[in-house]
Amino acid sequence: MKNIPTVPRFRSIVNLTRFLDNPLPIIKDALNTYGDTYMVYLGGTLRNIMTINPDVIQHILQKNHKNYIKSDITKKRLGKYLGRGLLTTDGAYWLRQRRLIQPGFHKAKLALLIQTMNDEITRYIANLEKRILKGQNIVNINNEMMELTLNIVCKTLFGSGMTQNQVQDFGKNVHKVQGYLVREIRSPIFNWWRKINGQERKAREISHAINETVMGFVRKRRDSGERHEDLLDMLIYSQYEDTGTFMEDKQIQDEALILFVAGHETSAVSTSWTFMLLSQHPEVRRLIVQELDETKDDQIPGFEDIPKLDYSRQVVSESMRLYSPAWIIDRLALEDDEVAGYKIPKGSMIAAFVHGVHRSEKYWSNPDQFDPSRFEKSKMKERHPFSYFPFGGGPRLCIGQHFALMEMQLIISRLSQKFNYTLVNPSIPEPKPLVTLRPEEDIMLRVELA
Ligand code: HEM
Repeated sequence: MKNIPTVPRFRSIVNLTRFLDNPLPIIKDALNTYGDTYMVYLGGTLRNIMTINPDVIQHILQKNHKNYIKSDITKKRLGKYLGRGLLTTDGAYWLRQRRLIQPGFHKAKLALLIQTMNDEITRYIANLEKRILKGQNIVNINNEMMELTLNIVCKTLFGSGMTQNQVQDFGKNVHKVQGYLVREIRSPIFNWWRKINGQERKAREISHAINETVMGFVRKRRDSGERHEDLLDMLIYSQYEDTGTFMEDKQIQDEALILFVAGHETSAVSTSWTFMLLSQHPEVRRLIVQELDETKDDQIPGFEDIPKLDYSRQVVSESMRLYSPAWIIDRLALEDDEVAGYKIPKGSMIAAFVHGVHRSEKYWSNPDQFDPSRFEKSKMKERHPFSYFPFGGGPRLCIGQHFALMEMQLIISRLSQKFNYTLVNPSIPEPKPLVTLRPEEDIMLRVELA
């Protein structure tokens, strides 16, 4: 059994400022120097193993997942602001919740949500058309997609009755807390200062307000006795299989907030990157439109049409290969372990560098090139299951995977049918990892009616 190659401590210290600014180049350099799995000390004795080896990743996320729990970053830091939900818990509690909530994302349930998604896309298209006619045809695509996916996730989660002001306030507040959280995680050495200067208190206050808002929705829905076709209804009325009971209000509040956080920014950044790619590849956009036209002519696609939009699925999948919104997935090793000949010491953090695997020459030919045909169904079977895993893997696979794919296929195909996008600046922005993999600069696109 071999020890994992380790980055000398002095090198980690020298690289610290650059790492805090953008970890991607530092991680890539280390992978080039030390191989596909390396270890780095993150202050004190905390070992952090970084890997792009699909066998190692499959081992930690799937084959021996019981030994690898969510790290403290996810559980404690996220949990402090978001509470105890699917994303932030482990063990028996998580499993019971997962079993309870999973059926809410089955096909029959997703079929009920497509109308809300389509309504929001239709409203967005009408609004953008109006702006274009007024001559406002340069858009910041990140802001556009943040807004559109915010409306979709809010309305599919809390119901179409949510007002625009409520949607906006909710989105803004969650965004503020996430921004603070990233600072806490990235530069923990300054957390004492954030406590003194009131930043932490402010974040807690906002998080309290967000939670109160969600609780307000839960109580209002329960008191009204009305039934709706949304995720909140699913959370309120799902029964535990062992006891037949329902969740307490506080549990519903936590799970709803987690679904929002997990489902908003990921879909927003992914669709933004996709439009950036389409602006570079008009031939791909034409094929998307052709597919939609052939499937639905001028009408809005329904749930039964989603499998027919296979090319748009390939485009979205390839976009998430190049720009995987979840760029890293981390775990904590409970006991000593061995995988692919490496020794994993108990207490190590181990991180699957999703972005690195997706861009590795070892698993992808011309890895930086955009080529949706890589995701033709026949080609997908040939690959290692963990050479592509934008939604994670094993028992903690993203619960919203099919929700997100449907949402993104609808957005990409319906907007491509109506609009033509071109990049305003000739340079392509670099990816920068925050909570998700965002573009380093805003992506400005010129939009024309198609
Ligand atoms: C492009 C969109 C999305 C991407 C790339 C994405 C990615 C991921 C990844 C990588 C994980 C696993 C994290 C880990 O193993 O530590 C995850 C988990 C999760 N995602 Fe997503 N996600 C997306 C959309 C959504 C949506 C739309 C929802 C809900 C509406 C959602 C809800 C969740 C939840 C609740 C978990 C935790 C599951 C568990 O641990 O049981 N995600 N997601």
